[in-house]
Amino acid sequence: MFRSADLFSSKTLQTMFKTPMVIAIDGPTASGKGTLAARLAKRLDFGYMDTGALYRGVAKTALDAGLDPSKKQDAVKAAKILLEKYTPAIQDDPAIRSEAVSRGASEVAAVPEVRNILHDIQVKFAKEGSGVKHEARLNGVVLDGRDIGTVICPDAHIKFFIDAKAEVRAERRASQLEQKGQKVDRAQIMKDLQIRDGRDTSRNVAPTLPAEDAFIIDTSSLDSNEVLARALDIVRGYLVGARAAAKAKTDA
Ligand code: DC
Repeated sequence: MFRSADLFSSKTLQTMFKTPMVIAIDGPTASGKGTLAARLAKRLDFGYMDTGALYRGVAKTALDAGLDPSKKQDAVKAAKILLEKYTPAIQDDPAIRSEAVSRGASEVAAVPEVRNILHDIQVKFAKEGSGVKHEARLNGVVLDGRDIGTVICPDAHIKFFIDAKAEVRAERRASQLEQKGQKVDRAQIMKDLQIRDGRDTSRNVAPTLPAEDAFIIDTSSLDSNEVLARALDIVRGYLVGARAAAKAKTDA
């Protein structure tokens, strides 16, 4: 099994990178970015933040409080409430994955004030990997979302943009719901996905777009093992290059 430690010890990684190494993963709904991010973090023994969970948390907070996520003031109010009670465990709460919360998350994510409120939690995690310790310091972090490589971590060491055709993503979403025992209307799922894609890519602030220096992986015809293998190849290549550059600097 490849882990960063198979290639370099923690000590070497910590000498090469003065702060935790940052891997940014962006992409649209059901592209496979979340699965890749979680598996990559596990394999590399890095910390992981699913930033979509923050926007989902805001939407759920709004719905629970009887607020309307599509109204700007309500969305901002909910983001402030969430910030007060935020814990990283939110990303494991199944209640944030419902269709109502998904729709609301896309609405609150289009509000610039909401994005500002959630900005610092993400940057802090990228810098410190808050809450996760690896020996003296965490070796690295993986964050997934829509604007990680462009806005939250523009200096990330490696950026990925994970994409797939809309029909493939809608089918994945339908299968996930069926596996949970839910009845699915495929035409409706496709329609919801297109609405959310439209809102996420056309909004004025931090639209879902690949960073110029992102590695783009189209997962339409790949399974999650193949996606992970491609990403790990890129990480390996990056680490080998970074080590050579560090050595050249020491030798000079
Ligand atoms: O990745 P996800 O489906 O859990 O994201 C939920 C919503 O939040 C989605 O509509 C896009 C938005 N989002 C965002 O705007 N920026 C992020 N960094 C993460 C998610």
